[in-house]
Amino acid sequence: MPRGKGRTGGHASVEVELSLEASRLVRIHRQDLQQVLVNLLVNAVHAVEPGPGRIRIMSRDWRDDGIQILVRDSGPGIEQALQERIFNPFFSTKDVGEGTGLGLSISHGLIRRYGGNITLDSSIGEGAAFSVWLLCEPQLSDDDTTLAEQLQAIGAGRDCLS
Ligand SMILES: Nc1ncnc2c1ncn2[C@@H]1O[C@H](COP(=O)(O)OP(=O)(O)OP(=O)(O)O)[C@@H](O)[C@H]1O
Ligand SMILES: [Mg+2]
Repeated sequence: MPRGKGRTGGHASVEVELSLEASRLVRIHRQDLQQVLVNLLVNAVHAVEPGPGRIRIMSRDWRDDGIQILVRDSGPGIEQALQERIFNPFFSTKDVGEGTGLGLSISHGLIRRYGGNITLDSSIGEGAAFSVWLLCEPQLSDDDTTLAEQLQAIGAGRDCLS
């Protein structure tokens, strides 16, 4: 998919679908959640442009623990080798001036500080789906290893929405 040129001037043809079913209250600073969602959405738009493309934003309750917010796009997807590095600071495939490579790394750090997690489900040609897992009772911590391992252990890293 061509990137960079054409992004700034053109209009992307993107269909956005919302399915917001989460009913629980989760505790997170509004600005923190906004920052995370904006980054995921900007990434999704970049992935699908110039389109036609599709972005789905979903939320649902997750067990008794919290909620899952999922941003799925119909872009080119992310190959396995890159998925391991995608949350690293300064990892970017965008042209100079178009991306710092900090968006996902900062987002991941923010959510982990609330005891939650961001996970990725993607394969080439099948788009990308980022899930944000948020807890009703966040375990505020600087400890980077809080809930992430637990989430993975119980399979929360897998995208359960289709
Ligand atoms: N939905 C997506 N589809 C395909 N690739 C993606 C997607 N989201 C992120 N990426 C890849 O991950 C890289 C890192 O994303 P990240 O948001 O951290 O930085 P960035 O978007 O490049 O720059 P910025 O700091 O402005 O957010 C992107 O450059 C892109 O290669
Ligand atoms: Mg970004």
